[in-house]
Amino acid sequence: MYFPLPGTSLTMIDTPALLIDLDLMESNIKRLFERVAGTGIHIRPHLKTVKTPVLAHRFLQAGAKGVCVAKLGEAEVMAASGIEDILITTEVIGGVKLARLMSLLCQHRNVKVVVDSIEGVDALAEASTHWGVTAQVLIEIDVGQRRCGVAPGNATVELAKRIVGQESLCFMGVQGYEGHLQHIQDKVERTARCVAAMELLTDTTTALSKAGMPPTIVTTGGTGTWQICAEYRHAGITEVQPGSFVFMDADYRHAIGNEYANALSVLATVISRPSATNAVVDAGLKALSNDSGNAEPKNLPGVSYQNWGDEHGILSWEQGTDLELKVGDKIELIPSHCDTTINLYDHYFATRDSQLEVVWPISARGKTQ
Ligand SMILES: Cc1ncc(COP(=O)(O)O)c(C=O)c1O
Repeated sequence: MYFPLPGTSLTMIDTPALLIDLDLMESNIKRLFERVAGTGIHIRPHLKTVKTPVLAHRFLQAGAKGVCVAKLGEAEVMAASGIEDILITTEVIGGVKLARLMSLLCQHRNVKVVVDSIEGVDALAEASTHWGVTAQVLIEIDVGQRRCGVAPGNATVELAKRIVGQESLCFMGVQGYEGHLQHIQDKVERTARCVAAMELLTDTTTALSKAGMPPTIVTTGGTGTWQICAEYRHAGITEVQPGSFVFMDADYRHAIGNEYANALSVLATVISRPSATNAVVDAGLKALSNDSGNAEPKNLPGVSYQNWGDEHGILSWEQGTDLELKVGDKIELIPSHCDTTINLYDHYFATRDSQLEVVWPISARGKTQ
């Protein structure tokens, strides 16, 4: 395993490597946490972005109430690191997964799951009874994303009744995540649509309370919407769950602006110079995801990057651009989508002032089950 020593200059780190600029990352965390604290709402950051307990613990130290994970496998990693209040934000379905979940709940009773179907509730109740545990459950409500989630209103109330009727389940509340709105560039439109989503969510929490099942947790929001969601604290929203703010990525920055800095980059080496206006680097699709477009070269104005296959990427610029790039030079690329890029790496190389400070394992990388 390749582990450069702390103090190693950034240009001496082997490539492709996933870098964190610690100063930028820390200022992103500070900014978001200070702002959330100012609203009186709780923060439960989503760890599907960072995928490492190291940063999860930093969030908790900064004042997070708990954490979110997308998958059971991520929950297992975070629980093993000593984190207790974990919300799994995707439905846990199927006998194999339920057995794993039950085994996790035996040791970590504060792990919570979302459900959105009668089948899901009944299977969870049966497994919890069998294992002698109480599962804490939130209903996922579809507030417009058209992904998972029951319809707001009556359908949610009916599912809540089914949960409350099960002795082995504890109804904790609701999740309504408006993921389809996070990247809307027009802030007026993003706000208006988020307001509509929050009204669906809070009308439903009111209906639950009227039916005698007041939710303890009402969780929502991402990096692009949490401030709008937080306005609904008095209507019942209790917490927000942003994830990308910590690193940001090129795509998110284009959508919501420079509020948070791009703190993540991929270090790559120029391995060939096929022409006067091109350079080939050793970072292709296996080093940078492209589901949200191409990565962007950092501090190289006028230069664009395109993946050129699995292991190669190509930099291009106009004839006459003032640029000297030699074979062996190192450059940095800002991922277009941080979550899917991070999932390609085993380690973060965390840097400060262009020197390696520490290497962090990305222990939940690849934990898609
Ligand atoms: C359920 C849920 N909550 C929160 C988030 C975090 O959103 P963001 O990374 O936009 O802050 C995500 C991201 O996909 C999500 O799926």
